Amino acid sequence: MIIRRVEYVGSIADPGGSAPGTLPQVAFSGRSNVGKSSLINTLLRRTRKKIAHVSSTPGKTRMVNFFQVNEDFYLVDLPGFGYAKVSKAIRESWKTLIHSYLSGESAPRGVVHLVDSRHDPADSDREMVTYLGSLGLPTLLVLTKIDKVGRMHRESLIQKVSKDLGVDAEQMVLFSSKTGEGREELLEAIEALLEESDEHEEDG
Ligand code: GTP
Ligand code: MG
Repeated sequence: MIIRRVEYVGSIADPGGSAPGTLPQVAFSGRSNVGKSSLINTLLRRTRKKIAHVSSTPGKTRMVNFFQVNEDFYLVDLPGFGYAKVSKAIRESWKTLIHSYLSGESAPRGVVHLVDSRHDPADSDREMVTYLGSLGLPTLLVLTKIDKVGRMHRESLIQKVSKDLGVDAEQMVLFSSKTGEGREELLEAIEALLEESDEHEEDG
């Protein structure tokens, strides 16, 4: 995939809101601070002039943000969930927003769920993966910040996360926004996901 043009095209701030257009979408979910916005910047090669906001303060992304790639599709940055330091009311409102988006008319073709490779998957990760399964949304799992994990530990990490979350090892991508590791593999997996759902659409 050659990325010629990327543009922020809009956000959904409230449950029931619609996507800013009709292109197919791939959404990125994960706990706050897992590296979603960094991953999007890396995928889009926007690491110098960032397009998705990155912050060491978790809870930076509060809306469902749409980034258009070429004339082809949207990458969608979701608010991080499960972040304990924002109030329960805010956490609940983000969850409602995410659920409304994923189950509504503007739903994406698939979701890339991110887990920080330095930490064990949390209950909120299990909940999300189960929820995506219940919606029948194709899901890829990305282990972020893999630059922090030694080569020796990678295979056991994959096995552990696979068992923890019930996701096949083949659906997992090891990724680092620091080194760019996994960028091509993830782009290809996203492309496959968009093409797969195109075929379903054509089948009617
Ligand atoms: P919210 O918007 O709060 O939900 O966070 P997010 O998931 O978008 O995370 P963000 O991309 O803002 O990154 C959070 C922190 O992790 C920042 O300090 C990043 O610099 C750091 N980070 C992100 N990706 C990587 C990575 O691949 N490797 C390392 N070492 N650090 C990373
Ligand atoms: Mg973010």
